[in-house]
Amino acid sequence: MIEIHDLVVQFGGVKPIDGLTVQLTRPIVGLIGPNGAGKTTLLNVFSGFVEPRRGWVKVRGELITGIPAHKPPIWVCAAPSRPIRSPKI
Ligand SMILES: Nc1ncnc2c1ncn2[C@@H]1O[C@H](COP(=O)(O)OP(=O)(O)O)[C@@H](O)[C@H]1O
Ligand SMILES: [Mg+2]
Repeated sequence: MIEIHDLVVQFGGVKPIDGLTVQLTRPIVGLIGPNGAGKTTLLNVFSGFVEPRRGWVKVRGELITGIPAHKPPIWVCAAPSRPIRSPKI
């Protein structure tokens, strides 16, 4: 279960994620959208490379936003062209 609540990411005047709220109960196999839609930005929030301006993300009930990229939880997230977050497992 992945919960995303009122997520906002802003880069200067660009706001690729603006108040995203969604609960995902099934495995995700893909994320599609046009160039610049914010797909990579969302993955970067999961991996800790991007800090949201507002909102939070929980994976299996565990808050993963606000955790620095060098202090990973037990799961792994990687966005293309970024280093893979090293797992504790
Ligand atoms: N680190 C960043 N600094 C400034 N703007 C960024 C940064 N990352 C992404 N953006 C901007 O945010 C928007 C969404 O980008 P991105 O998440 O890469 O889209 P997608 O992966 O869906 O093509 C784009 O307008 C992009 O230029
Ligand atoms: Mg991308």
